[in-house]
Amino acid sequence: MAFAKDDLYTDMILELFKNPNNHGKLENPDLYVEGGNPLCGDQVSFTMKIENGIISDIRFYGSGCAISTAAESLLTEMVKGKKVEDAAKISQKELFAELGDIIQTRIKCALLGLVVLKKGIEEYKKSGVKRTSIRGIVV
Ligand code: FES
Repeated sequence: MAFAKDDLYTDMILELFKNPNNHGKLENPDLYVEGGNPLCGDQVSFTMKIENGIISDIRFYGSGCAISTAAESLLTEMVKGKKVEDAAKISQKELFAELGDIIQTRIKCALLGLVVLKKGIEEYKKSGVKRTSIRGIVV
């Protein structure tokens, strides 16, 4: 299936939506964080293993649109193998460089996972909290 340049979804986004990387849930995670966008109801949860301050493994699951799912899939690839503090520094610009062109009206979808993940990591760094539930996120 070919897509015109102004199509809402790129081939990569559709492919990652259908076959996301690191999809699922880790047993006995060292860090769990969940959150959602109350405007659309989409939810995402991340489970992570942390060894010597490094995110050695990560999985995500939830119910999300194609763009949020693709962004979360890319995000898991970006943080795996990184130090926890470096993962917390991943920027919107870095994520969008991986994701490609995102039309303005869908930026909130693309940012959902990044906002949830960063808040969970920040809580973990600040107070060692291993389970964070973030409600009412409006990106
Ligand atoms: Fe809810 Fe995309 S429509 S995150």
